[in-house]
Amino acid sequence: MKFDTPATTNPIDQLKVVGRPTDRIEGPLKTTGRAPYAYERHDVVPNQAYGHVLGAGIGKGRVLSMDAAAARAAPGVLAVVTTLDMPRLEKGKMNTAFLFGGPEIQHYHQAIAVVVAESFEQARDAAAMIQVEYAREEGRFDLAAARGQAKPVDSDGKEADAAEADDRVGDFEAAFAAAAVTLDETYTTPDESHAMMEPHATIASWNAGKLTIWTSTQMVAWWRRDLAITLGLKPEDVRVDSPYIGGGFGGKLFLRADAVMAALGARAAGRPVKVALARPQVANNTTHRPATIQRIRIGAGRDGRITAIAHESLSGDLPDGQPETAVAQTKLLYAGANRLTAMRLAELDLPEGNSMRAPGEAPGMMALEIAMDEMAAKLGMDPVEFRIVNDTQVDPADPDRSFSQRQLIRCLREGAERFGWHRRNPQPGQWRDGHWLRGMGMAAGFRNNLVVKSAARARLGADGIVTVETDMTDIGTGSYTIIAQTAAEMMGLGLDRVRVRLGDSDFPVSAGSGGQFGGNSSTAGVYAACVKLREAVAQRLGFNAADAVFAEGEVRAGNRRVRLADAAAAQEVVAEDVIEFGDLSKRFQQSTFAGHFVEVAVDGFTGEVRVRRMLAVCAAGRILNPTSARSQVIGAMTMGVGAALMEELAVDKRHGFFVNHDLAGYEVPVHADILQQEVVFLDEVDPVSSPMKAKGVGELGLCGVGAAVANAIHHATGVRVRDYPVTLDKLLEGLPEMA
Ligand code: MOS
Repeated sequence: MKFDTPATTNPIDQLKVVGRPTDRIEGPLKTTGRAPYAYERHDVVPNQAYGHVLGAGIGKGRVLSMDAAAARAAPGVLAVVTTLDMPRLEKGKMNTAFLFGGPEIQHYHQAIAVVVAESFEQARDAAAMIQVEYAREEGRFDLAAARGQAKPVDSDGKEADAAEADDRVGDFEAAFAAAAVTLDETYTTPDESHAMMEPHATIASWNAGKLTIWTSTQMVAWWRRDLAITLGLKPEDVRVDSPYIGGGFGGKLFLRADAVMAALGARAAGRPVKVALARPQVANNTTHRPATIQRIRIGAGRDGRITAIAHESLSGDLPDGQPETAVAQTKLLYAGANRLTAMRLAELDLPEGNSMRAPGEAPGMMALEIAMDEMAAKLGMDPVEFRIVNDTQVDPADPDRSFSQRQLIRCLREGAERFGWHRRNPQPGQWRDGHWLRGMGMAAGFRNNLVVKSAARARLGADGIVTVETDMTDIGTGSYTIIAQTAAEMMGLGLDRVRVRLGDSDFPVSAGSGGQFGGNSSTAGVYAACVKLREAVAQRLGFNAADAVFAEGEVRAGNRRVRLADAAAAQEVVAEDVIEFGDLSKRFQQSTFAGHFVEVAVDGFTGEVRVRRMLAVCAAGRILNPTSARSQVIGAMTMGVGAALMEELAVDKRHGFFVNHDLAGYEVPVHADILQQEVVFLDEVDPVSSPMKAKGVGELGLCGVGAAVANAIHHATGVRVRDYPVTLDKLLEGLPEMA
């Protein structure tokens, strides 16, 4: 099905199942420990051995020699594969760092060996016996120091001359120089780790030259293709199965070493092998969100209207890597006739920087929305009103291009109203409660909406049950449930009559889970498959497909009604289709919006920050399942508190690795850290986004939250911190006199 004109009325609009708060259909399996995650797939293949990955102990250089004799002779050891045993393996299409093979070390904890043994402990113990001799080279590990050699990159991340790469509208410099009120500040965001609960893990098994992996991935088709490339196989000789995933946040988008090392270990041992990356390897072997240094300049008239806005961001990555696109939202969020957005990318030898939840907007909004708060203060305006005054309903660079839906103002007004924003004294540092300094802060939320081609198959059995099959993943987001809701709505069934099977490369290729495009795109693919299934059913039953109504387990037209199951009495009915998106996302700007509001209390003596209340009002198209969408948003808000207050991969600039590579040193908040979180969804449908009229929310919930927290801390204390995370050491000196 080609989706190239805005959706009109369709069966989803009935909202008998879609749009209703629905508990996760796989929830009982998860809460009772019966949902099998990758490392616990004990039953899929017998005789599984354990692999342990050895990571490089240097940040850059070469392996001169590896002595694995002691490891090979150690108890229980079945095989050892070292990086010197083979030339560098081909790199998958989505990988920046190569994953294995050859003497070159690109980054710390790059995989240099896998040891396979009868037990996990034996494998780990033997791995420690491998003697490695390195030739260390000097690496580039300091982003600020690398600024001089950074190159201009365009919005696609391609290197170009500044004149070509930088995005300009009007004459920023002249307008900024002429502006009555100006701001020019620099903000930094640190390297961050996805810190998902389930580490990367794979069981690999070979059978007559064909490879199966049971793994934990967001993107089944990408892993299949890239694993085939890496190992020199045909894609059809690789099967990937990943039905349950314990979090990804972007860290499981791209093929990782667990899959490659399990496959190599299994081939060497002649047995199935399971590998989980050790927690420190999640930080240093896989990918992370790159640090940024962002300069923002805003010029406005005394009326608060922005006349000039510039956002420039510097980030780093390995050679051939990508910039963190932290300026993306600044192209679209606020009006202003004169604009400049620019990115610089420096080569660094740290582990690979790549996508983490809302890549671009998440760190970009952390900077932009503090800048907006500072600018409102300079103008003597309320921060909510300042944003409202500068709303735009069109793409500022191309005024003929409007937003498909844009209800930012409603999000902000409704948020302010619900949060009690009018009670806030505009003067910072005035609101006290014993030794607590209290403050309220807010930020706009913005994340673009992406749509990705997605296929599904739907089968109607003689028992009247519809089974949906797609390689879509559920990374803890609720995919199983919204897919079931979609099929139930389309086929006129209750949820108990629908089965959903996900995450298997034998199924049609979906959008996968990423970029907050998975929910809308994958259900649109299921919609397309169900349209075909309805046609096939109607044909079998002798109905005219256009007239047939699917409701309550029946197919009806005129005065005829037949049980849906009857269509499959003689033979299962199977339909498959793919939704393909035309140019609607070019003709209209598709984005999602929010108002984020936060109340904090800061200990006036210690600078300790407590988040007391959070509210997000979101406009993100049709909400397919308010229960799981709310969970997505409160999870993202919690992640935003982490970004604001604690998350930071500390870089060892001598040796080039992330020091706090475990969950003791890399702190993340939990829901219990935040007393109250509320989420409101505006009643919105977006016919331009898909037949589902839905958009993404999983990343929107994060974008802006960090700044709202930082702004609340400023309101509480009068201290403006521009370097995340806002830890207490950065507050202490500026705290007001308490005694
Ligand atoms: Mo998301 S960072 O595209 O998983």
